[in-house]
Amino acid sequence: MSFPATRLRRLRATPVLRELVRETRLSAADLVLPLFVQSDPGHQRQPITALPGVSRLSITAAVEEAGAARALGLPAVLLFGIPDRKDAEGSGAYDDEGIVQLATRAIKQAHPDLVVMTDVCLCEYTDHGHCGLLAAGGAVGSSSTFDDDANVDNDSSVELIARTAVSHARAGADVVAPSDMMDGRVGAIRSALDGDGFEDVPIVAYSAKFASAFYGPFREAAGSAPAFGDRRGYQMDPANGDEAVREALLDAAEGADVVMVKPALAYLDVIRRVKDATRMPVAAYNVSGEYAMVKAGAAAGALDERAVVLETLTSIRRAGADIIISYHAKDAALWLQT
Ligand code: PBG
Repeated sequence: MSFPATRLRRLRATPVLRELVRETRLSAADLVLPLFVQSDPGHQRQPITALPGVSRLSITAAVEEAGAARALGLPAVLLFGIPDRKDAEGSGAYDDEGIVQLATRAIKQAHPDLVVMTDVCLCEYTDHGHCGLLAAGGAVGSSSTFDDDANVDNDSSVELIARTAVSHARAGADVVAPSDMMDGRVGAIRSALDGDGFEDVPIVAYSAKFASAFYGPFREAAGSAPAFGDRRGYQMDPANGDEAVREALLDAAEGADVVMVKPALAYLDVIRRVKDATRMPVAAYNVSGEYAMVKAGAAAGALDERAVVLETLTSIRRAGADIIISYHAKDAALWLQT
């Protein structure tokens, strides 16, 4: 039946009616706040120029920030570590006394009911800034057939990434989240965790992580821009949707508990396809460049920050995401209360 019998405006007439037929809900319980932790003494917070309102935190400040997140109803934080020293093997990543391990212990002790997720990757810890180890001799990259970053050796990297995940679990991480995009790392992490008695620690896999220009501000924040080349030899081509579904299905088969799509806004179709193909809990990462664009638009007086953030977070949920990682998580939780 069509117009005039059907009038879709009937159900839009009042706030209560709109609420009654609303298809998608956004709540603080869906949101995860990323935190950057570094080993500064005291309560130090070092603002990140590219991410207005976000700081690199000392462990003490991170514990405070985690408490503030919990108080606003956020269920989880996602930790990124900025180590004092970097080396070719990224050894700070799997050091039991590394920055993420220390921060995890401190946050879990102060806020036991807050879920602590840890980003598992080598890029913040390697002096070359890549997400894995470089192949010995660099022979692959010297051939004109391959990109420089095809040099990142998959299987030796996977070993260290699995070691990093176990070290995080030993420190008390509730969830580990590998973001390196090496093949086979979810299966390797699963068996390493199980081998160490961490059968109950879930894996949130960054399954469809694209080689995106939207990570720019994060790389300033984490000091993890690659020293040469880029990440296109391991992160996904932004043009590919079928491949994203294959990545998610493979990670599911290897034992992932949650699959992630990243970034979020330019990939809403991918979020939907991954949700439909896997029927698993899907996470989406509303990344640093997406946050920075909204901040810049708001600072220029062109955008209403609150309205834009709530609209985009809702759109990510509508696309199929159950969990959203966002630098706006605290703001959104506050706005949703009022
Ligand atoms: C590191 C990692 C990155 C992000 C999360 N984990 C950066 C990258 O791959 O270069 C990006 C997060 C953001 O932009 O907010 N593996």
